[in-house]
Amino acid sequence: MAVIYVVANQKGGIGKTTTATTLAGILGKRKRTLLIDADPQGNSSCTYQAKVEDQATLYDVMVDSQMLPMADAIQHLENGDIVASDPLLAKAEKMLDGDVDGLYRLKDALDGLTGYDYIVIDTAPSLNVILYNCLIAADEVIIPVMADAYSLQGLMQLYDTIKAVQKRQNKKLKVSGLLLVKYSGRSNLEKQVYEELIQLAEQMGTKVFSTTIRECVKTKEAQEQKKLLVDYAPKCTSMQDYFSFAKELTGLRKL
Ligand SMILES: Nc1ncnc2c1ncn2[C@@H]1O[C@H](COP(=O)(O)OP(=O)(O)OP(=O)(O)O)[C@@H](O)[C@H]1O
Ligand SMILES: [Mg+2]
Repeated sequence: MAVIYVVANQKGGIGKTTTATTLAGILGKRKRTLLIDADPQGNSSCTYQAKVEDQATLYDVMVDSQMLPMADAIQHLENGDIVASDPLLAKAEKMLDGDVDGLYRLKDALDGLTGYDYIVIDTAPSLNVILYNCLIAADEVIIPVMADAYSLQGLMQLYDTIKAVQKRQNKKLKVSGLLLVKYSGRSNLEKQVYEELIQLAEQMGTKVFSTTIRECVKTKEAQEQKKLLVDYAPKCTSMQDYFSFAKELTGLRKL
């Protein structure tokens, strides 16, 4: 059985895609790993140079009435295995509305998939039916956060969503932790927010990962070149941090 991580935060531009693709990239070097792009924006599909036209995507698996098996939507690419997103996924809300199984489409599809040790899901900046599907299908949620005042505001709302899912649809769902990204730890504001996050994490029954991810220009460069950071700049500061994060997360010592 694969361990399923979902990377979530309804705040936009906070490092979800960078975290999901980098984590999948690191794990993919050692373990059978699948990345699922559950964001209609398709940023991780773009990084993987995945096909969206004439290709089965998450839309066909989750939303379309034919409900294709997940295995049929997997693309084996240079950057790794991926199930691409489709802009049509934005219609999921309407299509799944009123369907009693609408929240379980992803779980059902993943229950039928074998052959992976890890599955990493990148999500959109919204609290919608696709995110519910992801939370119901997942084992653990990773929440990237930035150390600014606005980042804290939405966290409780996300936590309420997670709590609701834990109560009814997925009792084993765990918040693996809050991951501070684009963090230098130098400014007083950052330090103050870090302290507040530790308290917030406690309230949420989770922790702030002891690894924080530093800012690094290579992440943007890698994105532009459609390469995984682990391949583009394996020794850059962000990458060193992501390696220790991946170890802290999975407990794997060799990565
Ligand atoms: N450690 C980092 N150092 C420098 N830039 C970073 C770092 N992490 C992410 N970024 C940059 O921040 C921007 C937003 O990151 P990313 O796309 O991962 O966020 P996101 O949460 O997935 O956004 P969205 O909510 O739109 O899906 C990108 O331009 C990315 O290159
Ligand atoms: Mg993204």
